[in-house]
Amino acid sequence: MCGIVGYIGNEQAAPFLLDGLKKLEYRGYDSAGIAVYNDSGIDVEKVKGRIKVLSDMLQGGTRVKGSLGIGHTRWATHGKPSDINSHPHMSETGNFAVVHNGIIENHMKLKNHLQELGKSFVSDTDTEVVAHLLDHFYKGDILDAIIKVINMVEGSYALGIICKDDPDTLYAVRKDNPLIIGLGKHENFIASDIPAILEKTRDIYRMQDNEIAEIKRESVTVYNMAKEVIPFEPYHVNWDIGAAEKGGYEHFMLKEIMEQPKAIQDTISPRIKNGKIVLDEMNLTPEELNRFQKIVIVACGSSYHVGVVSKYVIEKLARIPVEVDLASEFRYRDPLVDETSLVIAISQSGETADTLEALREAKRRGAKVISVVNVVGSSIAMESDGVLYTWAGPEISVATTKAYSTQLAMLYMIAIYLAKQRNRIDDAAYDHYVSELQRLPSLVEQALQNKEVVQYVASRHFNAKSIFFIGRNIDYALSLEGSLKLKEISYIHSEAYAAGELKHGTISLIEDGTLVVALATCKKLFDKTMSNAVEVKTRGACILGLTTEGNEKINDVADHVFYVPEAEELFMPSLAVIPLQLFAYYIALMKNCDIDNPRNLAKSVTVE
Ligand code: AGP
Repeated sequence: MCGIVGYIGNEQAAPFLLDGLKKLEYRGYDSAGIAVYNDSGIDVEKVKGRIKVLSDMLQGGTRVKGSLGIGHTRWATHGKPSDINSHPHMSETGNFAVVHNGIIENHMKLKNHLQELGKSFVSDTDTEVVAHLLDHFYKGDILDAIIKVINMVEGSYALGIICKDDPDTLYAVRKDNPLIIGLGKHENFIASDIPAILEKTRDIYRMQDNEIAEIKRESVTVYNMAKEVIPFEPYHVNWDIGAAEKGGYEHFMLKEIMEQPKAIQDTISPRIKNGKIVLDEMNLTPEELNRFQKIVIVACGSSYHVGVVSKYVIEKLARIPVEVDLASEFRYRDPLVDETSLVIAISQSGETADTLEALREAKRRGAKVISVVNVVGSSIAMESDGVLYTWAGPEISVATTKAYSTQLAMLYMIAIYLAKQRNRIDDAAYDHYVSELQRLPSLVEQALQNKEVVQYVASRHFNAKSIFFIGRNIDYALSLEGSLKLKEISYIHSEAYAAGELKHGTISLIEDGTLVVALATCKKLFDKTMSNAVEVKTRGACILGLTTEGNEKINDVADHVFYVPEAEELFMPSLAVIPLQLFAYYIALMKNCDIDNPRNLAKSVTVE
């Protein structure tokens, strides 16, 4: 996810562009840049680092003159964060400057074609292809050139474009990524999101897919891909600025919980081609994949919990032994890893010191290391032998949600991929798992609809002193995450326990009214989990059950039930985690906790 801004009017563009980018920094912040049209052509200023670095470099924008410009704050997807990979990107002639949010999925094919035509590329980004294609198709009509380019590219994009030959027009294109037009007086704007323009105007138009806008100081014209003019209705925004950055949600955490269907979709879809999972990014040959005798997953916190879930999935499908280790423990246990081990490091931030050091220890011992990371160009990504990026976009809230869910999806893909590579599943099973994987975004969307029952149960238990989460098999693995989510944002003590283990000691903590969340999506162990729930219920516990829709049997034991849509059992954590995230959120909300910035915590723990 990146942030785009654009300005055309009678004021200096640069100060607005920098201020707008600052307000979009939650969308990405590894590098930033602006391009402003002036008498000497298009002046492009861009640099790695946060907006402040750029703003300081440009003295708040006063150093760059011109009243037409575009700006971009980057969340790297293709090409690590660097000055040269920052946007805007220029065409070879210097005629066009482009900013882009999204992914050009066929950029390599187009890049090769353009290089054969003699175009020279300076960056590793997918976006630069758009700038060169504009040069290639431009014969005097900019709109025609844009339409030709859009017909060539595949993927998702929100584009801001300026052309040296047309100082009176700002162009915008939208497909699958948000782009709004701000309607001012003698000035107009574009932005990825409302916060960037709210101080200038509250009248906006949210562009629709496959629309192109021709934006001038006194007029805005919207076209479809057939160059037909599309009428549009402005919308008046009445949000306050603070709410706007969270997309209208009260907290980034809730926004990110609600973004999970798209985040999972964005992580899965580029890796499934013609029904087959393609994981070339692992950078492992089939021989290497078949040589590994075990997998060791190293991670911390919620990423570690993804590893615990993954153990069940990978061992079930690929029949490879999987060890899951807390990164901080792995490093000091003289681990048994060598060239026959595949180590998988999981990290949202890609900067967690414990995980980075565990990765280094594994490499020192000869193991191949791949990482599942959400931040392009982060330390863990750069030091891995292969990296599989999750496309969750920037996750602002300290408590991870969408990154956790995209990590799960990524590990499911690795499990299916390995199972096929090692002939552990036949074609029918492979197709089943791939299609079940592709159902997840819509099923998660459905699971997100059941907020009311979660809010109700949260209202009954937000004063709890301690809450237990129990489950068996993959439900146990998920219970770890449910418990952590609750603890870290509501400050209520909580423990996750294998349901079969409770009776070996911890059951002594159960008192009258203790809330026990019994996760029971694993069908073959449903009865056993319910009998464990009865054990605590008879000792006074209140049972909150979590199971698949239609399973009414749970009401024989549970006082409340969260139902989730049914999916392939191995992938049920992706559904069951949704009410648990919302449960933690609503309890913390009712306790007036600082949900996005919980006490004592940091988004990335870069110390041991
Ligand atoms: C999860 O909500 C916490 N913020 C924390 O446990 C986190 O998962 C852990 O610090 C690991 O972070 P990473 O995924 O960035 O490595």
